[in-house]
Amino acid sequence: MYQSKIAGLGKYLPDRIVTNDDLSKVMETSDEWIQERTGIKERRYAKKHEETTTTMAAKASTIAIDRAGITKEDVDFIIFATLSPDYYFPGCGVLLQRELGITKTEIGALDIRNQCSGFIYALSIADQYIKSGMYKNILVVGSEMHSMGLDFSTRGRAVTVIFGDGAGAAIVQRTDNKDQGILSTKLHSDGTYAEKLAFLAPGSHGGYHNDQLEEPVDYGFDKSIDYGEIFFTEKMLNEGKYYPRMEGQFVFKLAVTKFPEVIGEVLEDAKLETSDINMLIPHQANLRIASFVQKRLGLGDDQVFNNIQKYGNTTAASIPIAFCEAWEEGKIKEGDLVCLAAFGSGFTWGAALLRF
Ligand code: UT7
Repeated sequence: MYQSKIAGLGKYLPDRIVTNDDLSKVMETSDEWIQERTGIKERRYAKKHEETTTTMAAKASTIAIDRAGITKEDVDFIIFATLSPDYYFPGCGVLLQRELGITKTEIGALDIRNQCSGFIYALSIADQYIKSGMYKNILVVGSEMHSMGLDFSTRGRAVTVIFGDGAGAAIVQRTDNKDQGILSTKLHSDGTYAEKLAFLAPGSHGGYHNDQLEEPVDYGFDKSIDYGEIFFTEKMLNEGKYYPRMEGQFVFKLAVTKFPEVIGEVLEDAKLETSDINMLIPHQANLRIASFVQKRLGLGDDQVFNNIQKYGNTTAASIPIAFCEAWEEGKIKEGDLVCLAAFGSGFTWGAALLRF
């Protein structure tokens, strides 16, 4: 069986910096509140009509491909994680293939809908494909353009201030070196609380487009939730139903227990200890969550990497961006034990342990 290693990392952050003070000009919030509750000082927003989730991903991918010492034609599979795609369908995987100018069709492109843990899920899938011998160079990408779909009125402040745009990419490559690469990945899901952090409308929950053809049926969905309608309506626009919703404290409480649990699982699988970790890269959801996890695991400041202060929460992109930045800053060296971990909407969560 083959081993899969991270051969190259790339990231792309749009130039436009949006500070907490900028946001406080359009909604009732403050730099003090945002920094105290989340650690975020600023985030990046993509250029409207110029940049998309896919174009940002292409920039990060090109860097990762170069750093891996391969060409785009060597990529034999693409896995794209995002919750903010360019289109409802087709997914960003094929759009990225086109944007990169990969014309060969002996390539697969897969889209991952796992939000904050999307990159961990993508990495785990890539690892299995490499181990089975099916592919040699898999481009794994997380990219988000949140700024296109946030509620910039005070109604949306609890969610809007958290998120930012950006992309991160990795080339997951076949290696024969058993001492290097992905040692373990663990994935989890629990759909019980799917609506606690979700973007509900428009969607099939909203019923039928054409009620003249068929009478709506009561499927017994949770009546306390207004799922919106199947297509955009003025009512939905007025009520802000097409924005993400989050029960922040509920998510927070679960996140701080699931992070240490799943990190423990990958360590146990690899027969290693917390003290063996050179660098933990947690999904950048909230600096308070990362600090809690760090304390719980007894890790030092030099063993955990955070950059939420600069970029906010970039969901599926947060781990590859942070991973890349930590490496660029020389904080991850060859042979280091790196742990990646995420928790988010679904709920889905997971971790990956690798020898860099
Ligand atoms: O990446 C996906 C996974 N997501 C997470 O892991 C997020 C987990 N949750 C969190 O990070 C935190 O719950 C938040 C940062 C989202 C919110 O922080 P919180 O400390 O849980 O605040 P809260 O929602 O309990 O709100 C406290 C108060 C409320 O006012 P009242 O009811 O006490 O008067 C909110 O209306 O803060 C108010 N508030 C704000 N005030 C100023 C909410 N958002 C804002 C805001 N600016 N942006």
